[in-house]
Amino acid sequence: MKNKIIYLSAALAFAVFTSCKNDAKSESGSDSGEPKEYKGKEIGSEHDAEIDKLVSQMTLEEKIGMLHGNSMFTSGGVKRLGIPELKMADGPLGVREEISRDNWAPAGLTNDFATYYPAGGGLAATWNAEMAYTFGNSLGQEMRARDKDMLLSPAINIVRTPLGGRTYEYMSEDPFLNKKIAVPLIVGLQDNDVMACVKHFAANNQETNRDFVDVQIDERTLREIYLPAFEASIKEAHAYSVMGAYNKFRGEYLCENDYMLNKILRDEWGFKGVVVSDWAAVHSTVKSLKSGLDIEMGTPKPFNEFFLADKLIAAAKNKEISEAEIDIHVKRILRTLFQVKAMGGKDRAKGSIATEAHYQDAYKIAAEDIVLLKNENNALPLKLDGVKSIAVIGNNATKKNALGGFGAGVKTKREVTPLEGLKNRLPSSITINYAEGYLERYDEKNKGNLGNITSNGPVTIDHLDPAKLQEAIETAKKSDVAIIFAGSNRDYETEASDRRTLKLPFGQEELIQKVLAVNPRTIVVMVAGAPFDIDAVSKKTSALVWSWFNGSEGGNALADVILGKVNPSGKLPWTMPKQIMDSPAHATNSFPGGKTVSYAEGILVGYRWFDTKNIAPLYPFGFGLSYTTFAFDNAKTDKTSYAENETITVSVAVKNTGKVDGKEVVQLYTSKSDSKITRAAQELKGFQKVLVKSGSSNTVAIKVPVKELAYYDVATKKWTVEPGKYTLKLGNSSRDIKKEVVITIK
Ligand code: BGC
Repeated sequence: MKNKIIYLSAALAFAVFTSCKNDAKSESGSDSGEPKEYKGKEIGSEHDAEIDKLVSQMTLEEKIGMLHGNSMFTSGGVKRLGIPELKMADGPLGVREEISRDNWAPAGLTNDFATYYPAGGGLAATWNAEMAYTFGNSLGQEMRARDKDMLLSPAINIVRTPLGGRTYEYMSEDPFLNKKIAVPLIVGLQDNDVMACVKHFAANNQETNRDFVDVQIDERTLREIYLPAFEASIKEAHAYSVMGAYNKFRGEYLCENDYMLNKILRDEWGFKGVVVSDWAAVHSTVKSLKSGLDIEMGTPKPFNEFFLADKLIAAAKNKEISEAEIDIHVKRILRTLFQVKAMGGKDRAKGSIATEAHYQDAYKIAAEDIVLLKNENNALPLKLDGVKSIAVIGNNATKKNALGGFGAGVKTKREVTPLEGLKNRLPSSITINYAEGYLERYDEKNKGNLGNITSNGPVTIDHLDPAKLQEAIETAKKSDVAIIFAGSNRDYETEASDRRTLKLPFGQEELIQKVLAVNPRTIVVMVAGAPFDIDAVSKKTSALVWSWFNGSEGGNALADVILGKVNPSGKLPWTMPKQIMDSPAHATNSFPGGKTVSYAEGILVGYRWFDTKNIAPLYPFGFGLSYTTFAFDNAKTDKTSYAENETITVSVAVKNTGKVDGKEVVQLYTSKSDSKITRAAQELKGFQKVLVKSGSSNTVAIKVPVKELAYYDVATKKWTVEPGKYTLKLGNSSRDIKKEVVITIK
């Protein structure tokens, strides 16, 4: 019986699958179909006189003390003048545990537990701006309860390659979805007197050679693919800070890149906040400052040895840089401190942390991000009549992902695993037979590769332990139903290294095939943050579910989807290729490059490549099934022809033609066939998630400002709307277009 645990079902059992119809509605559902507008508050100038006065009282050393880290996650303040340190915290999954002041070791506190929120890919898979606002708002409250000023998040780099180590942290391969999730997240966060630090600016799309790789992107691609979410974060959400990336762009490090930091970010977009470096991403003193960097953060070494510390004092004394120039940076920091009421404000938000309400926020997001990829013969939701036992197989049934790998995680008191979720939700009459099946094993010799930035990802041991395999087979055979929890984890998908391959690690493919062979009633659940090669698995299994590094309540949300309490409504935020060579960066042999990487696919990133080149993906961008079915009808626009400053309103009736309530994401793609310029076959320009009750119909109205149809004209350096006919395509994935409407732009 070693390694074989028979779990009897837990106390909180309730018969969920029967209640699908009435329970599918969650608070986040938008019945109206009217999208909300999210706009942030701009940094004000009302404290400028006070700021000028403060700066006039500061010594050069005090000023420069504010421009660099004085601990791992704070930059300096000036106590005698009442200027506090600027207190930062990672990151994308929730407020990171407290780190020691001068090294990476955890501080060992007992009051730094936090809610673990679903990772970026999961949040984007909700295709729901309200969920993104909830995420930011909930996390903002946690930041304040930990007395922080700046969250090092959101992470919004474009998913250029499925192998990217940080794909799980990032949102999407598509710039429109990316910005529509980033903006409400930032607004929600900053509504709590906390700054967002949008990262990593910009063109930081791989971990391999990230410390020095020089990224070459043509201007149009930069503007249309890699910058829109950053641009919207500044112009719409008014993010108060931005993090400069590690790598180079067009020959210059991104923390000393005048084009990106001064010309684009500040001059073009009007950014008024602070630019913080990524940790140890600075390479110069005067050049960095003059190029637009404000604060240098870093990894352990005496803080006065940073580029923006003693060296800057010396440079100022040698007149290589004027004190007036230093003042500009100090004033920017002071303005953001006033803006979030770290200075001057009496009524700063106090926040709360790891509350039941926040765990429920994490639950709501998780319940909306799970993607149903395949469901033959209505294998799901699982019908429990006659079921006495369920085999739960796979290391991922018990694996926790709040911490792991290299980079920021969350120390949390609650992380419901998939196995615990099932125990919580299944009636006690059902026996759960657990078998680990595969082991998470790495080649000892290559262990250093985990998170080692000079490598292309960790080397896994991909053969199964024969005893573990046998145990899994026996467990599946003797149980009425089997559920395999496979995929990846946050040790394997990690910052600082890209994966070597799309292959499922640890011998999982063989395990899945063998379990499927002995128990045809097997459901495969993938827990992962990035695409994997699941072509063969997907052919054999009748039910395939995709979950993510899905936060504190991930296991409960997953069980609720499997059992039908929640009707799945997540949609893939990126393309699942059949094979890696189908993906644009790989098909063009332009990943990972060497000292330089040129993005040879240009604007054809993600589905733009697959659709333009007619390559069938395994699962397309925007894809996700439901336990009900939807029909789209009566698609129309408010007019037939529009001027450049107008907004197109496209409406469509979404009818729920199945037996249970459910949410559908109406996706609007545009095509221009007779274009004078090279374009992708289609581009996402709008979407709206809508809850529709079984048997009823809701009309969804999507507004597309005509300027969204613009391309970036390199010659004139302007966003330009080409006149003529455009086809608006309405569907529920990039490959399932149900209605088309043609309009004309004058
Ligand atoms: C990461 C950042 C992170 C910083 C501080 C860096 O390695 O790239 O995303 O915020 O560390 O932990």
